[in-house]
Amino acid sequence: MKNIVTARAHTNIALIKYWGKADIALNIPTTSSLSMTLEPFYTTTSVEFTDNESDSLILNSEVADSSRVSQFLEMMRGQYGNFPKVMIQSENHVPTAAGLASSASSFAALTAAMFGLLDLEKDDSEMSRIARRGSGSASRSIFGNFSVWNKGEDHQSSFAESFYNEDIGLSMIVAEISAEKKKMSSTKGMQLAQTAPTYSAWVEKSAIQLEEMKQAILNADIEKVGLVAQDNALGMHEQNRLSNQPFDYFTHETRHVIDFVNQAYQSGLLAFVTIDAGPNVKIITDHATEKVLLAKLQAEFPELTFDIARAGGAYEYL
Ligand code: PMV
Repeated sequence: MKNIVTARAHTNIALIKYWGKADIALNIPTTSSLSMTLEPFYTTTSVEFTDNESDSLILNSEVADSSRVSQFLEMMRGQYGNFPKVMIQSENHVPTAAGLASSASSFAALTAAMFGLLDLEKDDSEMSRIARRGSGSASRSIFGNFSVWNKGEDHQSSFAESFYNEDIGLSMIVAEISAEKKKMSSTKGMQLAQTAPTYSAWVEKSAIQLEEMKQAILNADIEKVGLVAQDNALGMHEQNRLSNQPFDYFTHETRHVIDFVNQAYQSGLLAFVTIDAGPNVKIITDHATEKVLLAKLQAEFPELTFDIARAGGAYEYL
């Protein structure tokens, strides 16, 4: 067995969202989802066994609350047999918890590192199932480019797989509106969204949109990808507003960016939005348009930071 194992996984942005749990403890979703893994945003995680009395986490060189990772490691001990306490060191190259799903890259990297440390067979489906238990979206970060998480109905049947492992020319421009920790956790947000009277209609529509999205990716039709992703994401946020305790991740700045992107599309540019559990907007465009659009966004919103992200690869050992 190796003494220390280091793995890296990239974050992903869902084009068809996961927003609701059929089983909260197991992270079984109400919908299947599809995402693109992003090259510039990733987490690098090292793990080693320790004689300490508890698992520990050092995140970005600082001691951090280890309760969530310790719970995850306990789940792994239940699955694979008991093992000693683990020291985790993690570097997050993702603005933490601002709707950029750092939990996706974090739990995918931790899963891969632990599979190495425990000498488990590197089976992608099994890694995806385990990553899912840490954070649902992490199930998709095992893979590069485009992956689909088939919702399944129990632990064994709910995992992601590679859908199309090619760069189709899609670019995302991430507008960093706030790097603050999100106000409403995704678990709580999902629970509330599921109380919306329109929620089951969103779930049904999502299954149709997933098929449309798969076809659009296979055709490298970025306009269709953008239109479907935008409709799916805005629908997700509508459930939050219609829940029995209405809430909203959007800020007025989020809305300004959305309006600006919609106008850019009306003026003939490829530009669409998707938004996760936070105020940041991800703008979907293509490689040929990314620089022109970035310049327009920077001119309009000089106070915001923008990053261009293209598709990234699967998890890897370092
Ligand atoms: O993986 P979680 O529990 O943080 O949920 C992520 C949910 C969204 O990012 C909003 C959507 C998605 O499919 O990634």
